[in-house]
Amino acid sequence: MTIVETAAVFAREKLEQEGSGHDWWHIYRVHSMALRLANEEGADSTVVSLAALLHDVWDHKWYAGDGAEAAREWLLQQGADDALANHVHLIISRVSYKGAGVADDMPSLEGRCVQDADRLDAIGAIGIARTFAYGGSKGRLLYDPAVPPEMHDSFEAYKSTTAPTLNHFYEKLLLLKDRLHTDSAKRIAAERHAFMEQFLSRFYDEWDGAA
Ligand code: ADP
Ligand code: NI
Repeated sequence: MTIVETAAVFAREKLEQEGSGHDWWHIYRVHSMALRLANEEGADSTVVSLAALLHDVWDHKWYAGDGAEAAREWLLQQGADDALANHVHLIISRVSYKGAGVADDMPSLEGRCVQDADRLDAIGAIGIARTFAYGGSKGRLLYDPAVPPEMHDSFEAYKSTTAPTLNHFYEKLLLLKDRLHTDSAKRIAAERHAFMEQFLSRFYDEWDGAA
């Protein structure tokens, strides 16, 4: 097996049972999309594949240690060279969204493809489904008109929210289209973004009994 195939088997095993929207099929979609972007942007497909496959295996939501470092060590154990392991480490350490007021810093083209693919999976129909799956897994309300969205200016504040799920659209999902790097992802995001706006407009109409 190649190292990419080994990483796919490993990620599938680790995330098969995950119930908050980071299951194996999230990895499958991010991996396929990241490779599509890599192809369109001329990025290295091995780096992109490995970072996409491993990006959530040691996510902060269930892994208390340094997830990027865990990925680096796993790759070295599999025989990856230092440059490859360090590049994947760099990507995984910076891939996550950390709040509306926290700027992204992704210095490699490969990282930009993976980050864009991860973010495309957080918007559109699948993004909506994942967001309510996550909210449900935490026992959150769907919506509370009395609780306004917050623009978090630190990862700590963003991580510790217990706000209703609809707030997450304003705190993350609707902001993502303007935080993408590649032209390919921006094109794909436009329709997904419009679909979320349509969903929200229906949601409020139904909430008030107007539709
Ligand atoms: P990233 O992929 O950028 O690391 P996260 O791991 O924070 O993003 O989020 C993964 C999934 O969980 C996404 O679909 C995201 O929208 C959803 N999610 C994260 N935080 C919340 C929240 N507070 N409410 C609802 N959904 C959330
Ligand atoms: Ni992800």
